[in-house]
Amino acid sequence: MKFMTSEEIRQSFLDFFKSKGHTILSSASLIPNDPQLMFTVAGMVPFKPIFWGKIEPTYPRIATCQKCIRTVDIDNVGKTPRHQTFFEMLGNFSFGDYFKKEAIIWAWEYVTEVLKIPEEKLWVSVYKEDDEAYEIWKNEIGVPEGKIVRLGKEDNWWGPAGPTGPCGPDTEIFIDTGRTENCPNIDNCSPACDCGRFLEFWNLVFTEYNQDDRGNLTPLQRKNIDTGLGLERLTAIMQGVETTFDTDLFQPVIEKIESIFSVKYKSNPEQDISIRVIADHARAIAFMIADGILPSNEGRGYVLRRLLRRADRHASLLGNKRPFLHKLIDPLIKKMGSIYPELKAKKELIEQITIKEEERFLDNLERGTKRLWQMIDAKGKLNGKDLFMLHDTYGFHVELVEEILNGSDIHLDKEGFLKLMQEQKERARAATGNKEYDDVSTLIKTLHEELGGTEFLGYEMLETRSEIKTIIKKGVQVHQLSKGEEGEVIFDKTVFYAEKGGQVSDTGILETSSGVAEVLHVYIPHQDIVLHKIKVIDGLLNKGELALLKVDVEKRKATARNHTATHLLHAALRNILGEHVKQSGSLVGPERLRFDFSHFSQLKPEEIMAIEETVNEIVLSALPVTVEEKDLEEAKSEDVIALFEEKYGDKVRVVSISDFSRELCAGTHVENTGEIGLFKIISESSVSAGVRRIDAITGKESLKYLRKLTALASDLKDVLQVQEEQILEKTLSLLQELKGKEKEIKKLKEKLLSGKTSANDHEFSIDDVKFLVRIVEDAPAELVRNTADVLMQRLGQGVVIIFNKQGDKVIFVVKVSQELTKHFNAGHIAKNIAKALGGGGGGRPDFAQAGGKEVNNIEKVVNSLEKYVRA
Ligand code: ALA
Repeated sequence: MKFMTSEEIRQSFLDFFKSKGHTILSSASLIPNDPQLMFTVAGMVPFKPIFWGKIEPTYPRIATCQKCIRTVDIDNVGKTPRHQTFFEMLGNFSFGDYFKKEAIIWAWEYVTEVLKIPEEKLWVSVYKEDDEAYEIWKNEIGVPEGKIVRLGKEDNWWGPAGPTGPCGPDTEIFIDTGRTENCPNIDNCSPACDCGRFLEFWNLVFTEYNQDDRGNLTPLQRKNIDTGLGLERLTAIMQGVETTFDTDLFQPVIEKIESIFSVKYKSNPEQDISIRVIADHARAIAFMIADGILPSNEGRGYVLRRLLRRADRHASLLGNKRPFLHKLIDPLIKKMGSIYPELKAKKELIEQITIKEEERFLDNLERGTKRLWQMIDAKGKLNGKDLFMLHDTYGFHVELVEEILNGSDIHLDKEGFLKLMQEQKERARAATGNKEYDDVSTLIKTLHEELGGTEFLGYEMLETRSEIKTIIKKGVQVHQLSKGEEGEVIFDKTVFYAEKGGQVSDTGILETSSGVAEVLHVYIPHQDIVLHKIKVIDGLLNKGELALLKVDVEKRKATARNHTATHLLHAALRNILGEHVKQSGSLVGPERLRFDFSHFSQLKPEEIMAIEETVNEIVLSALPVTVEEKDLEEAKSEDVIALFEEKYGDKVRVVSISDFSRELCAGTHVENTGEIGLFKIISESSVSAGVRRIDAITGKESLKYLRKLTALASDLKDVLQVQEEQILEKTLSLLQELKGKEKEIKKLKEKLLSGKTSANDHEFSIDDVKFLVRIVEDAPAELVRNTADVLMQRLGQGVVIIFNKQGDKVIFVVKVSQELTKHFNAGHIAKNIAKALGGGGGGRPDFAQAGGKEVNNIEKVVNSLEKYVRA
């Protein structure tokens, strides 16, 4: 067995299986085309629909090196020798082609003849009932019976990946590391023992069953092979090191971490944990962003954010306070960029996103940690509200809090926290008004089973007749709705477009022989059943009746203009800003379109102009918009921009506008770009770190917008009495004038208030000290203080008191010149007067401010001031 680099191992695996007739494919995205899974968790994930029998294989044998993310053991990462979130899985796959025998023979050949791992170090396990695999190992390969272990379902069964799907028994290959120091029972030690001596590195799965949502197994139409060989583990074996972090795969990143933080790996066990966490998470973060995931508060984006914050927290343990993850991208690209070109292509994006996200979080990390410990010091635990506050204010996920508390038994009320989070979500949902999507009632599920899905005819026509299959009112089925009542109606076919893919629903009218209803909203609560939310405006609506369904044509057309314009905008953004632009959300309605996309900086005015020009150029070229139905696979191979909702095996619609734009899209579109009219961007803003938003209008809305601007200009012209070209100039000069006037008014007021004498002044002496008392009304506080200064200057030495009446309250200031503060204390005087006025306040010996409610007592206080001054 000789030392091999990770590059050599990866290549030797693919070469080996190529020589056995496999087609080599490059790694699929970390975002699976599979609604059951958050991430690509194994090499087989991209092929799940083929294993499942939902689509036919193009190649019978495939081998890949697949990038994967698994987050179930995220808390163990850094603490153990082999846990990682991001890893690479080598795998060979057969779709109804070869089965157990070839899979086992080739695996053995690769391990013993290519890798040259000595046979005596190898052990295997098989599923306890799998005699066939056992016999192959024993007879075909010649593994001694003592080294073939039969194990149960928890060890030797794999899948499904997700709640349902393909799965089957497996056989695993182990290496004996010879490390027996932790084994309690050396004589009986085998792969069945969990002392750590036997390291599993290759799993061969015989994928021959489908598991349904109740756990029932049924044979699949084909018998398949799915194998998984963890590259990092194998590299550790081939390089004779104990942990995956000691392999060449991690070396460049760890070296960079050492240099950034001036630490040495393997000099301090606590620091080593942080170094490993950072090394692992940095890889996962970079690959996730490269595949189009952006930090957010849910789903994949949440996982990304959690990894990033955990990395930052460990960096803070190493003394870091600044964004640093971007510095690890270069070494990562150096090591892996040739195999995963997306890292190189997205380098700038990855750096920008991590910097922005870290800047935001690092600000909070220190303050949040301090606050957390303050709360624990005060009460010894954290209740739901505390956890919610930490999350809401500082961005501390509960997992981060747990990690900071590092296994201590301080009680965390996670249930209370989740309740508050749920409430917050509900508030947000209530605010957006999408209540229909909350949860699917059993009624809808039952109706779907009974009635099936709703056919959509609305691409071709805007009117049709259809039977009212059922009517729902407040969650129960009814036979009838009468004038004024609201409810939901299901048809077997409809022309109404149901809200999806960012396009709002159609609205319109239903007519039957007995009544008329308005269609307010149309949506899909479950699978492919469509609900029409309606209000009866005349007569009655009966279940079983035939209805004429009429879509609001004007609105549909306006929406179509905006939808096609959205595709043009998407393509223009990619042309002008770069290929990193990816749609992250959109809203297409009759009034406007909104498009969210990944991009790391605010758009410059000239970029916005270029985008508008590009889109309008295509509009003016009056290009036809074509729609083709295709298999998803076919569409994907043609490099169509695909979004999130399509699944393998689906029929999809490919919407094309010449060579300029091709997207998978279920929405409704214009037939020719000329119908769009003027495309105008009306705002560009930020949604979150790395995500921008454009709002734009088309068609009649553009005309409206233009009219609004023209009317505004015309009004301004009239009001300002100038020509249109002079509006700006005139406005600026008026503003300038106004500013001058304001200054003047302020000065005048000051003069007025601090004027030499005032009818409301009282001047007298106490112990030869001059006192000046003035009473004013409704003066701004700042002006009163300034006036006190001015009056004091005039007095030279003495005491100034100003009462400022404000309705039924009075505020007053007392100012004593510095030399006199030994004899007269402003704070005390203020307190005494305030008492007499039924209020309170105080201050320094030379200046104090107070207030009271008994305005009518002011005169009395002034007349016997000596009493308060001396008291
Ligand atoms: N799909 C199998 C695994 O992930 C090979 O272990």
